[in-house]
Amino acid sequence: MVIFVEEMNPMTSNQYLTTTSYTLLEKGTVSCQSPSNIALVKYWGKYGEQLPKNASISFTLSNCHTKTTLSYERKTSEGFDFEVFLNDHKEDSFKPKIQKFFERIEAYLPFLKEYKFNINTTNSFPHSSGIASSASGMSALAMCLIALENRLLGAPESISEAKKQKASFLARLGSGSACRSIDGPLVVWGEHQNIEGSSNLLGTRYPYNVHPNFHEYQDTILLVDKGEKQVSSTVGHNLMHEHPFAEQRFQQANNHLSKLIPVLKEGDLSAFVQIVEREALSLHAMMLTSNPYFILMKPNTLEIINRIWEFRKETGSSVCFTLDAGANVHVLFPKEEREEVSQFIRTELTSFCSKGEFIEDEVGIGAFLL
Ligand code: PMV
Repeated sequence: MVIFVEEMNPMTSNQYLTTTSYTLLEKGTVSCQSPSNIALVKYWGKYGEQLPKNASISFTLSNCHTKTTLSYERKTSEGFDFEVFLNDHKEDSFKPKIQKFFERIEAYLPFLKEYKFNINTTNSFPHSSGIASSASGMSALAMCLIALENRLLGAPESISEAKKQKASFLARLGSGSACRSIDGPLVVWGEHQNIEGSSNLLGTRYPYNVHPNFHEYQDTILLVDKGEKQVSSTVGHNLMHEHPFAEQRFQQANNHLSKLIPVLKEGDLSAFVQIVEREALSLHAMMLTSNPYFILMKPNTLEIINRIWEFRKETGSSVCFTLDAGANVHVLFPKEEREEVSQFIRTELTSFCSKGEFIEDEVGIGAFLL
């Protein structure tokens, strides 16, 4: 059977609508792997349909990733039909988010209601480690759906650059920061006047020169608190609507991104440290000054930050920290410093981690088919 795709609402992002026809296949599976990412300049505050109030940039990670296998089978019933499994166990708590994702992306993948899907997903990092699985999870699912679309269009299996862009566009509609996980090693999301090709609709690979100091950058994630976050990112983003410092914050983030361009080019590690740490603390300052206010850092988050500052002062190291919307600390450092910093982490920082746990990661290349 063939579905012809109609002209859609011109207000939507038309270039991602499919203009050719699909040939629906009976059943099959596709599998993808997609990593998490860590923002250097943070996205916090959105408008419209998952559009960012400021531009952000992140390192794509490598070891923290999600593998997803999407099984599809033709159906005749109405509506979306899918089941979600995490490590082979049915996970109904993920369903509302995926239902919403399907509703948002249906205009761009009009075959979704033709299939019953089983979404089988595994994370390389421990479940409820406090590491956001939404970036890797949503980008892995978006890649699987693009791989399926390719099949239904009779296109080659491999994902072209244009199709990666569509995957990023779709991933954004699942979870904003997920759009930065499709590509690597440095990805920008959000229109920025100094970054060519940057877009609010999708993540784009950072287009300028990056000094070797930043190649293979290391990120050790210290698991300070593995519990469920008290305030979700969705709630946090929404609190930026009425936030007294919102406009200054969006401006600051865009300025930080402008300042990062020469820093990345020249390999200026000390300027990098200053921008990255200021960004992390500014993100959390927004939480501290929201109405209602909230604190996601824990006492051990602050202990770790202070130890990093002391170590830097004593040794002249370029190690620095950043934070996501949670208590865990991402310890960033150049590959050259791996030995000294790993030693420092093991002897001085792991005692502040829940059960002494941490994950060693480094920048990666993004999502791919398995
Ligand atoms: O993509 P979301 O809605 O989970 O928001 C992520 C926000 C931060 O991780 C705090 C910052 C960022 O840019 O990744």
